[in-house]
Formats: sequence, C-alpha cells, structure tokens
Amino acid sequence: MKRILVTGGAGFIGSNFVRHMVTKYPDYTMINIDALTYAGNLENLKAIKNNSNYLFVKADIRDRVKMDEIFSGHDVDVVVNFAAESHVDRSIVEPEVFLTTNILGTQVLLDTAKKHWSVCPNDKYCREYKPGVKYLQISTDEVYGALGKTGMFVETMPLLPNSPYSAAKASADLIVRAYHETFGIPVNITRCSNNYGPFQFPEKLIPLMINNCLKEKDLPVYGDGMQVRDWLHVADHCTAIDIVLHTGVDGEIYNIGGNNEKTNIDIVKLIIQTLGKSETLIKYVRDRPGHDRRYAIDNTKITTQLGWVPAYTFKQGMKETIEWYLSQADWVENIVSGDYMEYYDKMYV
Ligand code: NAD
Ligand code: DAU
Repeated sequence: MKRILVTGGAGFIGSNFVRHMVTKYPDYTMINIDALTYAGNLENLKAIKNNSNYLFVKADIRDRVKMDEIFSGHDVDVVVNFAAESHVDRSIVEPEVFLTTNILGTQVLLDTAKKHWSVCPNDKYCREYKPGVKYLQISTDEVYGALGKTGMFVETMPLLPNSPYSAAKASADLIVRAYHETFGIPVNITRCSNNYGPFQFPEKLIPLMINNCLKEKDLPVYGDGMQVRDWLHVADHCTAIDIVLHTGVDGEIYNIGGNNEKTNIDIVKLIIQTLGKSETLIKYVRDRPGHDRRYAIDNTKITTQLGWVPAYTFKQGMKETIEWYLSQADWVENIVSGDYMEYYDKMYV
C-alpha cells in the first residue's frame, strides 16, 4: 500500500499520470495537490474524481506550512513532482514565477520529505529513511540545452539550459541531486522529451495548431520552422514514470523518449492535412529568443536497464490526439474563452 503525493496533477501530464495510477493501482492512495494556476484544470480529472483511492487538495508547493500539513495528514511515502511553470514562451515574458515554483517549490518538497521520512529527525547528519520512500522529480530534456544536426542527449551530459524555464528546471535537478548526495534522500530524476496527447493546454505547439486550424486562424510558425523536437505520447511518458517509480535505482537519472524526431513545420503540415485545411494558413512569425534548434533523447538506459518501451507510434498517437480534440470541443472552449485569449493576443497579435 503506497500513499503517493502527486504535485501538479491537474495539469497535462500530471492528470494523465493520476488517471493512469488511480485505475491501475486500486490499493494505492493518490493525493493530488495543485495550485490550479491557468494550466491546472480539474475537468481533466472528472473521470476519476469520485474514486475512493483519489483525493484532491488545492495547495501551492511553495507553501511550507501546507506541505507539512499534507505530509502529516496523509502519511505520504512517495512524491512525484510534476508541479511547475512549464511554458518556455511565458518564461521569456515573466521569468520570476518559474524560479519560485520550479526551484524553491522543489526545495520545499524535499525539505518536507526529509523531515517526515527521516528515521532520526533530531540528528542533522542522519541519512536513514523509512523503507519504501522515494522522491521522483519530473524534469525535462531541455536541461541539456540544444543539439546540432547530430548527437543525442545522454544522462551524463552537462546541463546547458537556454531559457529561464529550462534553467529553473536544471536548477531543480541540481537541488534534488544535492539532497540525495548530502542527506541520502532516495530520489530519481526523469528527463522526458516533448509530450503530446489528450488534455494538453492549447498554448503548446500541437494543441495550438489543432485549435487554430479548426478555426481557420493563422498557424504561427516560429523562425524557419525547421527546429526539431522528439515527440512522445503522454501515455508512454506515464508508463515510463510508473516503471521508474517501482524499479528505478536510487539516485539515478533516466531519460525518456521514443526516437521520434520531427521538424515543427512537418507537424503543422500533418495537422493541416489531417483536418483537410489549406497550407495558406501557415504564417512564419518572429522566432522565439534563444530558441533551441534540436532535441533528441537517447533512451538506452531506461529501455535496457528498466525494460520500458513506448507503445504508441507517432501516426497512431497523432490520429487519436486530433480525434480527441475534435470530440472535446467543450473542454477547449472552456479554456480558450478565459484568460487564454488575453495571453494569445499578447504573444501573437
Ligand atoms: P502543465 O503546465 O500542463 O501543468 C503544470 C501543473 O502544475 C498545473 O496544473 C499547475 O496548476 C500546477 N502548478 C504550477 N505551479 C504550481 C505551484 N506553485 N504549486 C502547485 N501546483 C502548481 O505542465 P505539463 O506539460 O503537464 O508538465 C508537467 C511537468 O512535466 C513539468 O514539471 C514539466 O517541466 C515536465 N515536462 C513536460 C514536458 C512536456 O512536453 N509538456 C516534457 C518533459 C517534462
Ligand atoms: O522538451 C520538453 C519540453 O517540451 C517541456 O519541458 C516543456 O514543458 C514543453 O512546453 C515543451 O517545450 P517546447 O518549447 O519544445 O514546446 P512548445 O510546444 O512550446 O514548442 C514546440 C516547438 O514549436 C518549439 O520549437 C517552438 C515551436 N512553436 C511553438 C508554438 C507554441 C511554434 O513554432 N509556434 C508556436 O506557436
């Protein structure tokens, strides 16, 4: 029986993960905490909200008192930290909240876990923890920076983040590592490539392009559109996290990716073609400052050491994703009718 604290579980990947875990492990208790920023949406959890092994608490990971209360009240023995400001473009406009949530929020969670999991809390040099506890940090491939035409990210590479978002995520990784080295907290870090799939907020490339295409609005492609991302279906990311949670070796970092590199312009053209629209909707716009040219994940460690394999082909995953957005017009409308348009106008108009 595990009591798993998921942070940021009302966001895109977190909500997919919570639904996966609540359904697959009825004997685990999933405690989902989320500050419900613009990116958090409880609609994403409608399907499981009444399950007896699921609980939601609105809380900010930077709030030490609240985190302490949650650990005490629920006897948490695992943390999976998804909570973050996650959008690169927003980090260019308003970097500060990326630093407070992504770095300081991570430190608050680590401090709270250390306090509650230590077998000798009064001994400042104690490195022993209750059996079965683990802190899992959900990081990103962006911490490695950008690749040229060749090469892939491996776990041993130096961190060279280029945006305020990725610098904050890299800083969090270093804090997690330090708490493992100094205090002996059992941790893992995962670094995944770009996710796509249901419930992704329409500020990110794929849902933004689907939504605009459906409305026959301009499709804003940054720069020359030849930047490369390594796309993975969110369900495959969730199975990888599940495996790392159960079998990841203490202190280890695992890259997650499905060997699926695509240029942005090819993704946009695929969406146009699937929806039967015209390529005249494509509008090349000013490039993102500091735009990383290419990401590619070497997944050898997780596939060979932990036996994870992605289930989705990109073709199948994109087909299902586009169908999902077509069938969930209300979900999209609820989002884009709120503050989203203000954001959109600020960024694109
Ligand atoms: P998201 O923006 O959709 O969700 C983030 C969630 O965190 C939201 O529900 C938000 O309300 C919550 N949150 C933000 N600040 C908080 C705070 N201070 N306290 C509590 N909750 C807070 O993000 P996502 O795309 O689902 O990404 C989740 C995690 O996975 C992030 O850590 C991100 O860095 C990482 N990641 C994302 C991708 C991707 O392609 N989306 C790939 C690799 C890694
Ligand atoms: O690699 C993992 C990362 O992937 C995660 O850590 C981030 O949280 C996640 O947001 C994502 O970052 P990207 O910057 O790669 O994703 P985004 O969807 O914002 O952009 C994907 C590519 O598409 C990128 O090269 C920028 C480009 N783009 C994006 C938007 C929103 C456009 O050309 N036009 C757009 O309007």
